[in-house]
Amino acid sequence: MLNRVLEQRLQQAVRAVLPDADTTNILVRPCPDPKFGDYQTNALMAVAKERKMNPRQLATDVLAKLDVADVCEKVEIAGAGFLNFRVKNSAVIDSLAAAARGEHLFYQKTDKPRTAVVDFSSPNIAKPMHVGHIRSTILGDSLARVLRLLGHRVVTDNHIGDWGTQFGKLLVGWKNHLDRAALELDAIGEMERLYKLINSTSEKDPAILEEARRELVKLQAGDAENLEIWHEMIALSQHQFDTIYGRLGVKFDQVLGESFYNPWLKEVVEDLRAKNIARESDGALCVFSDGSVPQKEDPFLIQRDGKWQDNPALIQKSDGGFNYATTDLATLQYRLKTWQPSEIVYVTDGRQQLHFQQLFSTFRRWHPEAKVKLAHVWFGSILGEDGKPFKTRSGETVKLSDLLDEAEERAFKVVSDKNPEMPESERKEIARIVGISAVKYADLQPNRQSDYIFSWDKMLSLQGNTAPYLLYAYTRVRSIFRKADAGVQTPQNGSAGLVLSESDELTLAKHLLNFGLVLEAVIEDYRPNYLCTYLFELAGHFARFYENCPVLKAEEPHRSSRLALSDLTARVLKQGLEVLGIETTEQM
Ligand code: ARG
Repeated sequence: MLNRVLEQRLQQAVRAVLPDADTTNILVRPCPDPKFGDYQTNALMAVAKERKMNPRQLATDVLAKLDVADVCEKVEIAGAGFLNFRVKNSAVIDSLAAAARGEHLFYQKTDKPRTAVVDFSSPNIAKPMHVGHIRSTILGDSLARVLRLLGHRVVTDNHIGDWGTQFGKLLVGWKNHLDRAALELDAIGEMERLYKLINSTSEKDPAILEEARRELVKLQAGDAENLEIWHEMIALSQHQFDTIYGRLGVKFDQVLGESFYNPWLKEVVEDLRAKNIARESDGALCVFSDGSVPQKEDPFLIQRDGKWQDNPALIQKSDGGFNYATTDLATLQYRLKTWQPSEIVYVTDGRQQLHFQQLFSTFRRWHPEAKVKLAHVWFGSILGEDGKPFKTRSGETVKLSDLLDEAEERAFKVVSDKNPEMPESERKEIARIVGISAVKYADLQPNRQSDYIFSWDKMLSLQGNTAPYLLYAYTRVRSIFRKADAGVQTPQNGSAGLVLSESDELTLAKHLLNFGLVLEAVIEDYRPNYLCTYLFELAGHFARFYENCPVLKAEEPHRSSRLALSDLTARVLKQGLEVLGIETTEQM
């Protein structure tokens, strides 16, 4: 990849000037404004600053040692010490030709594979998956796909919420009010009803609350009947989750629910107590601040009435029970032992930020030697068009299965309007792809940390940065080949067949070259939206190219060259969409 070549040469040049310099952070990035070049580096300014050198002087010295004449025009120094690179057309053509020969698709597999555990989706037993879980599922799946594509080892783990105090109430409900017929029809719906029923009656009647507590204790103690019911609740819920995962095309390597870690919880707590990381407070066991970070950054402190006060993490309740945090500590330890990951990524909504800050900080004190990178990849809320949390008209949480049904129905209308002639079964299949993609893309495309407004019209629109637009762009490229009625001519001898004479061809070609760079940025910052933006721009560049450069009607060598360029565009679009978890269709 050209950016890689530039980076290597640049690093060599820096070492020639400063033999002891650490050059790992000397990177090039696409130039924000193509007026100034194709790639740019600002890294020399950081090196100069560190060594109290004049940045422009350093840039001049490095430039004198830099040899990139084979791939770049004259390199320019700009501003306070930027270097701007404009790549030669011949270098672009060489890279395209190699891609056309199938040697690469503008990205490189890493030569330093990491192992990453990606913890995502993680819905709760007996509760419907809600829009927050779908966002976690979609983001997590995409991150896992990109990591894999770049050659990393990935363990996807669905940390199902299958343990906790809710089971006391659920057991009371199940034993006294279960409607078997309703359970057959909609298991999670029925369990949710039971939970809500007991939840509200126990508010008025302490005896029911007490009964729920007793059932919970029995379950925790391994009572056979309660365990059996609990297993059934899990199986029924898992079945419903699996239906959703099937529709979304999401698979997990591991499904280790919270209960899996029960055997270790006691040990974890004992260990934390023995190491003085946790201490007793009002009969409970808690982790407090150790004062090692500034108050503002300390997750164990909170500001109240202008004063910093303790905000401890509870790891054992005063009744001896363990909680979400205890389980997460045990989970972390298990994952480290089992897979030796170099990173663990947790994808949940932003409301769990404090939990993960406390978790990570407790873990660092507990295992100071561990090098694993821990990342909480959090996201904002999904809002209705009224700007309030996304709910059904009657104020209920929106069920995922209903949401996906509606997406497919609405997409069916879009597809039917466009292709009234197409047989219904085909329209249905395309609508399935378009509908599911639209929902996924709406989750992936915005900056994940901002809230976004869920709008059917927007996400299903054929215009704008949407899945239907990209899927349609893909079918347009592919249709050229149906018309050409011939496979692509891959340039046989070197790059002799490729010509980039028009500026729209060159812009498109140069954009293709940046695919790998964008994929790497996605896993660096855990932001699939970078890839969405890249693909949207790619589709735009292709549209301009296709408008201004005839393909099938062009004379040779332009015809073959443009066919090759179109084919590479289609391949990058397809691969890019695939790692967003989006299926493509040949016709739309
Ligand atoms: N079950 C949790 C929820 O629905 C998410 C779990 C996330 N993963 C974790 N290791 N805590 O909010």
